[in-house]
Amino acid sequence: MIMDEKFLEGRGALITGGASGFGRGFAYAYGHRGADLVLVDINEELLEETSKGVEKETGQKVIPIICDVSKPDQVQNMAKQAFNELDNIYILNNNAGAGYGFYRDPLRLKDELFEKTIALNLKGQWMVAREVAKKMKKQTFEPLAGKIIHTASIAGVRVDPGLPDYSISKAGVIAMMQILAQSLAPRITVNALSPGYHLTGAYKNNLEAMKMTMEEGHVKTPLNRYGTVEDVVNVSLFIASPMSNFITGHNFIVDGGIAEVGIPAYYLKSNL
Ligand SMILES: NC(=O)c1ccc[n+]([C@@H]2O[C@H](COP(=O)([O-])OP(=O)(O)OC[C@H]3O[C@@H](n4cnc5c(N)ncnc54)[C@H](O)[C@@H]3O)[C@@H](O)[C@H]2O)c1
Repeated sequence: MIMDEKFLEGRGALITGGASGFGRGFAYAYGHRGADLVLVDINEELLEETSKGVEKETGQKVIPIICDVSKPDQVQNMAKQAFNELDNIYILNNNAGAGYGFYRDPLRLKDELFEKTIALNLKGQWMVAREVAKKMKKQTFEPLAGKIIHTASIAGVRVDPGLPDYSISKAGVIAMMQILAQSLAPRITVNALSPGYHLTGAYKNNLEAMKMTMEEGHVKTPLNRYGTVEDVVNVSLFIASPMSNFITGHNFIVDGGIAEVGIPAYYLKSNL
C-alpha cells in the first residue's frame, strides 16, 4: 500500500506552523515517508522540541526556521534559507494560522484584530506560497514539480458570525487556493484542508475549551466524535502522495460531516 511506502524519499517538505498541532502531525507523517523537512514557526521552544523529536524518530533531516509568516521580510528570508538548506521543496503545507476571539456581535470586531487575523491567516499564506512557488515551479520532478496544501477551515465554508475575522480569512484562503491552482497549473497542484473541531494548540490542547466552543456554536458532529490531528494528517498524506496527482483546486473538508451533512437524523428526537 503506497501510504506505507517512502514515497517522499528525495523530496523536501516545508511546513508552516510546524511546531504544534496539525503542523507537527504533518512533519512526523512526511518524515516517516522519507521527506527532509523545514519546520517554520514563531514558537521557538516548541519548534526546537518538535524538530528534535521528528529527526530522532524518523532519521530525516529537519531544519527549524523561526519566522513570523505575517512579516514580508521574514517570509522572504525564510524561503531563501529553506531552499539553501534543502535540495528542493516538493510539498508546502501552508498551515500557520490562529483565531483570536469570539464575538456576539460581529460588527464590534476591532479593526486592529481584523488586520492581525488577515495578516497571519490570509496574507501570510499568500506570501509564503508566492515565495516558495517561484522556485518550486522550476523543479524538474515528474509528473509534477510540487504540491501546495493550505490549511483553511470549515469556518471558511459555513461562516461563523462569532468568528467574523477568522471566517473571512479562511474563506479567503479557499479563494486564494483556487487562484493559485489556476495560476500554477499544470506543474503544481494546489489544494486546501478544511478541518472542523480537532484538539490542538488552537484550544490550548484543552478538551473542555473545545467542547465549550462547540456548544456555543450549537455544533453536532454527524460522525459523533471529536476530530483528531491524525484525521487531518491522513488527508494531507493523500494529497502529498501520487494517489492525488489528478486533483487540484479542491477544498478537502475533514470535519466528520459538520459542514456538509448538518444535523444528523439520529440526533432528532422525533420517531415520526
Ligand atoms: N484545531 C482545529 O480544530 C482547527 C480547525 C480548523 C482550522 N484550523 C487551522 O489549522 C491550522 C493549524 O492550527 P492548529 O489547530 O494545529 O493549532 P496550533 O496552535 O497547535 O498550531 C499552530 C502553529 O502555528 C504557529 N504560529 C502562530 N502564529 C504564527 C506566525 N505568525 N508565524 C509562524 N507560525 C505561527 C503556532 O506557534 C503554532 O505552533 C491553523 O491555520 C488553524 O486556523 C484548526
